[in-house]
Amino acid sequence: MGAIVVYESMFGNTEAVARAVAEGIGSVMPVELVEVNSAPPLASMSTDLLVVGGPTHAFGLSRANTRADAKQRGARDEASSGLGIREWLEATESAPLRVATFDTHVKKPNLPGRASHAAERRLHRMGCEILTRGMSFYVDGYDGPMYAGEVDRARKWGTEVARCALSGAASR
Ligand SMILES: Cc1cc2nc3c(=O)[nH]c(=O)nc-3n(C[C@H](O)[C@H](O)[C@H](O)COP(=O)(O)O)c2cc1C
Repeated sequence: MGAIVVYESMFGNTEAVARAVAEGIGSVMPVELVEVNSAPPLASMSTDLLVVGGPTHAFGLSRANTRADAKQRGARDEASSGLGIREWLEATESAPLRVATFDTHVKKPNLPGRASHAAERRLHRMGCEILTRGMSFYVDGYDGPMYAGEVDRARKWGTEVARCALSGAASR
């Protein structure tokens, strides 16, 4: 059994969550953490669990213009300077992988729409099996930091998702 976590992050918060999710998964099975611009096409992946996470931008997955907006607001130059999760998913064929998604989201105001749910819908249409409903982790403002306890919650969520993948595999 093994897992891959693919993430996108402009200010570093989703990256911190992705690292914690990978740590949590790592307590159950081997895991690889990959920034989306270094990720192989989804259709070429052979993994028992794929976890995909990105920041919520404009009620869903980021686009080139929202990433440019983030950069104007001070996002790291090196961060996801190319494509985002949306473009990565658009560029690939379908694949029957077992997946879970997460996002980062501001708490106040509580805006509708979540990158995790948008990614989940796309992955479902691409033939993936959704292991558990997409999970949001909360940032304080556009650039963060994460609210207290959120990184720990991400680690625990990673472990739960990995256990879920394991038990699903065992019952097949
Ligand atoms: C252009 C732009 C649009 C955003 N739109 C939303 C939104 O619709 N809902 C929301 O909860 N957060 C929104 N945010 C805040 C992001 O969710 C936040 O910047 C992100 O979670 C931080 O993650 P990162 O550090 O990995 O980039 C937006 C941020 C930017 C830059």
